[in-house]
Parts: sequence; structure tokens; C-alpha cells
Amino acid sequence: MIEGKTVLTGVKPTGKPHLGNYLGAIKPTIEMGKAAKRHIMFIADYHAINAQKDAEILNKEIKEIACVYLAAGLDPKKSIFYRQSDIPEIFEITTILTAFTPKGFMNKAHAYKAAVDKNVAAGKPNDDGINMGLYTYPVLMAADILTFDTDIVPVGKDQIQHVEIARDIAGAINAYYGKDVLVQPNYVADENIAVIPGLDGRKMSKSYGNVIPMYEDDKTLKKAVFAIKTDSKPIEEPKNPEEVLVYEVYKTIAPADKVAEMADGLRNGKLGYGHVKNMLLDAIIEKTAQEREVYNYYMAHFDEVEQVLAEGAEKARAIAKQTLKRLKNTVFGF
Ligand code: ADP
Ligand code: TRP
Repeated sequence: MIEGKTVLTGVKPTGKPHLGNYLGAIKPTIEMGKAAKRHIMFIADYHAINAQKDAEILNKEIKEIACVYLAAGLDPKKSIFYRQSDIPEIFEITTILTAFTPKGFMNKAHAYKAAVDKNVAAGKPNDDGINMGLYTYPVLMAADILTFDTDIVPVGKDQIQHVEIARDIAGAINAYYGKDVLVQPNYVADENIAVIPGLDGRKMSKSYGNVIPMYEDDKTLKKAVFAIKTDSKPIEEPKNPEEVLVYEVYKTIAPADKVAEMADGLRNGKLGYGHVKNMLLDAIIEKTAQEREVYNYYMAHFDEVEQVLAEGAEKARAIAKQTLKRLKNTVFGF
């Protein structure tokens, strides 16, 4: 399905990723990219400014996300890896796309609707605090995708609608000119990816403040793991593993034999919550310690990352220029 295709993913720099992001998005994206003919991965920094106006924070979050992807195994020799803001053609293409985008699409877009719903619930005017960047977010995202003749966009469920909008905009342009000017993308939403529970049992999410952070030192990781909710059953009391949150998280990260070992220990009253938390901590450290070193190295040598991103931008611009030329030629006749 992926073989022979151009696969593209964007990631918003919105704070250091957590274990849920890592297992649910970062690792699967990198794996999928390996099978693609062309894999494109970018940091969606222009998308981030809709919500984050503090340059210092933004800069830090862009750095962190770049280093996380490289540490997690993104190979910049194989994948084209760049910052969105380094590709000016995307923004020219955005302007062309707006002329073919019905305003009604934006009114229906989930991110905008969710922001309006929040305002209504709080008794505020519908559009309170909503900027045009958020409102037209799907057009910029369509440009991100269409600029690179993308076949497939791997997404979480919340992003499906955005890819459909990109597909519709490309379809409208192709229909208007009666030729295939732009490639119409498809999304893949992997149903098999587990939702990682957070410290309180809800989905692990930055917005719930219930996360196990990535690439932190052992002490910080330990603090998070030991904050996972448990009841007060003593060690010897048999426990149903499916009701133990630590076990639910462990399942997503540990090898099958170790998972079975934890399940048995809980059922037989041989393992208490302290034991299983230590097992989880060890599993996280084992899985990420090496990557954490690479992450720390890149954070301390960001000039090397800048070099990687500059090379990625050069490759990306070569493609973007061609698409822009094709579009301008179609739209203006030159
Ligand atoms: P958050 O909920 O922390 O704000 P995002 O919405 O920014 O996370 O998610 C970024 C990516 O990480 C998405 O592709 C999403 O599907 C994935 N992701 C986030 N939380 C989890 C989780 N708990 N389990 C699995 N995947 C997750
Ligand atoms: N909207 C995506 C998110 O919030 C990030 C993103 C921006 C993206 N442009 C993209 C994802 C293009 C895939 C393709 O997670």
C-alpha cells in the first residue's frame, strides 16, 4: 500500500512529546516512512503560531521536536526532513488554493468548530479569540500536502477531515482546468495503534496533564511512573491485570514474555504496585535510553540539526518550485 508512494507527515511543535505521542505517532510514522518510495516529514511551525506567540517557547519546541524525530530514528538521508517555514513556495501555493476553497469548508472544519463550541459553552461570542490562522488552517495544511504531490498522509482520526479537504481542493482545481494539475491525496488512519492511557487512566494527553514525558532523566521518569493511579490492594491480594493501569501501559511498551510475566505476578499475588511500577520504569528506560542520549546530543549540538534541516529544505524546495511553476502556468498561463 505504501510501496511506490509519496508519504508525507507534518508535526506541530507543541511541547516535548510524551509516551503516547511517541508510541502512537512518532514511531509508526518513522516505520511507515521506511517503506515509502519518497518519505517527507516536516515541522509545521507556521501552524503553531496560531496558538503560540512566544518566540522563545516556539523556538524551544521546534528544536525539541526536530531532535526527538532524529533520536527516534528518522533517517534524513532517506526522508526529506525540513521546517515548513523554510519553504516559501508553500505559502504562495496556499494563496492560489484559497481561490478554489469554498468558505463553507472552513466553517465546517473540526478545529474551528471545536473552538466555537468552547466559546459558546463559556458564554463568549462565537469567534472570540479565534484568529484567521486557525480558521484557514485546512488551506495551509492542504498546501503542505499538495505541494509535494503526496499520495498518502498517515494521520490520527482528528486529522482525517483535513486530508479530505486537501483532496477536495485538488479535485476542484483539476476539474476546473480539466487536467490533473495536483495529485489527490489519501489518508491512512491506523486502527491498530493502541491509545496509551495516561497517569489517571484517561488517554495520555498534554491537555490532561497526565503524561509520561519522553527522553527525560531517570528521576523525572520515575516520578511520572510512580504517579500512575492504583488502588490500595496489598501485594498478596490477587489482582486482575486488566484492571491495573500500570499493566495497561506496560502492555504497550514491553515484550510479550515480560507482559505475561507481569500478568501472572499480579494474578498470583506475587507482584505489588511498587514492583510493577519498577518493571514499567525499566521497560521505558530500556526502550528509550539509547535514543535519549542521541536526543541530548542533538539538543547540545543543534547546529548539526540545522544542517540536516537546511539540506532537507533544499530537497523540498526543488519539488515545491516545480509544483508552484505548474500551478502558476495553469492559473496565469505563464
Ligand atoms: P496531545 O493529546 O498530547 O495534545 P496530540 O493531539 O498533539 O497529543 O497528538 C499528536 C499525535 O500523537 C497524534 O497523531 C495522536 O494520535 C498521537 N497521540 C496522542 N496521544 C496519544 C495516546 N495517548 N496514545 C496514542 N497516540 C497518541
Ligand atoms: N494538522 C496536523 C496536526 O495538528 C499537523 C500538520 C500540518 C500536518 N500540516 C500537515 C499533518 C500535513 C499531515 C500533513 O497534527
